[in-house]
Amino acid sequence: MAKRRAARIGRIAISTGGGDAPGLNAVIRAVVMTAHRQGWECVGIRDGYEGLLGPRSAGGLVPLTPARVQGITQLGGTILGTTNAGNPLTYPTRQRDGSIVLKDRSSELVRAFRREGLDALVAIGGDGSLRIANALEKKGLRVVGVPKTIDNDLADTVVTFGFDTAVSFATECIERLHTTAASHRRLMVVEVMGRYAGWIALNAGVSGDAHAILIPEIPYQIDKVAAALRAREAAGHYYGIVVVAEGARPKGGRRYVLDRRAGRAERLGGIGERVAKELAALTGKEARHVVLGHLLRGGSPTTFDRLISLRFGAAAVRALAEGRGGVMVALAPPTVRYVPLYQVARKIRNVPVASDTVRTARGLGISFGD
Ligand code: F6P
Repeated sequence: MAKRRAARIGRIAISTGGGDAPGLNAVIRAVVMTAHRQGWECVGIRDGYEGLLGPRSAGGLVPLTPARVQGITQLGGTILGTTNAGNPLTYPTRQRDGSIVLKDRSSELVRAFRREGLDALVAIGGDGSLRIANALEKKGLRVVGVPKTIDNDLADTVVTFGFDTAVSFATECIERLHTTAASHRRLMVVEVMGRYAGWIALNAGVSGDAHAILIPEIPYQIDKVAAALRAREAAGHYYGIVVVAEGARPKGGRRYVLDRRAGRAERLGGIGERVAKELAALTGKEARHVVLGHLLRGGSPTTFDRLISLRFGAAAVRALAEGRGGVMVALAPPTVRYVPLYQVARKIRNVPVASDTVRTARGLGISFGD
């Protein structure tokens, strides 16, 4: 288990990095309130680490007092701002000739923490942000990570915050599509986020009574999806709902990438449209596609997400007060635990293809196109 060090803390920083997720502000509130009771001062770093590494206009550090975090538990987004472009390990830097090179600015960042009198960092983020947090910890900064992502693909925690909100909204959307699809006897293809893992597509697809679910973990064959939809039609059901994760791929094929840029994660998208076109051709039915995309990241966190976010934030401060560093807070019902950051930093948690939920879906007659 991660090391214990003498806990002498006066001032801590919070950063929110990568894509936003409902619950970020609840974590911030819990960190600030719990730290305040320890007598610690809290500041937030603007836009990931831009407040320390970026130009002055990036906004620097934001003082976080109990008054500042009042009433933000239910607020979507992050009051600190975030980015998935300013990774300090591969920071895009413009050269004199206009070209961009990727620089490791992590040592400079650690120096900036010292300069600002910051004794520890609570890093709230997904796989990329936790990898950065682990690198900063290795350079001598005291860091506790908090697992965030609507994709739910982080290792060693039962769930990440933001996921429940995304699944609840996706399920509601799928439900709404049933009636319009049935009225028009159409196929509706719903594309949801899920870059490496199909948790959102699977959980929302099963809960929303989809007829096919395509996820990255189970490469699909489009003719098998079409066959499942035709079989439905033969049984007298003239419409179909297909839920597809943005990171799903056909057997032997690749993920659909919209945009690739140095220093940034690939932008995925387009698979929903492609699947709808292919299914229309194969079944002879009218098909439409809907991309839920960033709608899944917006809005107010569900009660479940609010509660785990508050629990994660408070547990992060308790970890620091107990002298821990280099750990991530993880949900392990009925409690929270701490797992070493290096252990989670390089892992993605995929949907186990033989999991109970996948088997439940198969039992309900849902096709995975395999
Ligand atoms: O947080 C992960 C995620 O939701 C992925 O599912 C998606 O690919 C990505 O964010 C999109 O991020 P953005 O468009 O904000 O860069």
